[in-house]
Amino acid sequence: MNNLNQTIRTILNRRSTRSFVRRPIKEEDLKLIVDCALHAPSGMGRQTWKFTVVENRARIRELSKAVGEELGREGYDMYAPEVLIIPSNLKESPFGMEDNACAMENIYLAAEALGIGCVWINQLRTICDVPKIRAILDAFHIPGDHVVYGLAALGYRDDAPLAPKERIGQVEYIK
Ligand SMILES: Cc1cc2nc3c(=O)[nH]c(=O)nc-3n(C[C@H](O)[C@H](O)[C@H](O)COP(=O)(O)O)c2cc1C
Repeated sequence: MNNLNQTIRTILNRRSTRSFVRRPIKEEDLKLIVDCALHAPSGMGRQTWKFTVVENRARIRELSKAVGEELGREGYDMYAPEVLIIPSNLKESPFGMEDNACAMENIYLAAEALGIGCVWINQLRTICDVPKIRAILDAFHIPGDHVVYGLAALGYRDDAPLAPKERIGQVEYIK
């Protein structure tokens, strides 16, 4: 893989990280990751998303705890990340889910390129409007007419990067 273009290498090497060390992520790296999210494609270029960056670990714990309580998962901590990037989008947007998935992939790849671990957290999507969850999202200034499909938990890995994972999706070339 040594002779591959760096972007392709980043895509092929990316893995989800679920164990983080306590080390702050540099503000400039976070800004770069968010900028990459903002550069994701969006349906009709509408960009109706918002990206909320939560750098306060107590507030991350508060959200994780509320999600865990709601889902009956005691001790749920979203893997205790250093930072959350929470993409949200208009509930009524016809492209919101796809747009935010594109942004999430850019976040994953930008983090990988910067040596930062990332994992997709899917738990919020069905419980955004549960009052105690929405109250926390309100406190993060996430608009009330937005839904969170998935969010990114970020931090430096506390172990070596994972080996590539076997990819089993079907592919067929028709010529
Ligand atoms: C839509 C979606 C939802 C996901 N939700 C979670 C999640 O809630 N928790 C988690 O640990 N990983 C989650 N993941 C990460 C996947 O488990 C992971 O991407 C997959 O196992 C492949 O591993 P890799 O990312 O290391 O290549 C999610 C990924 C996607 C695309």
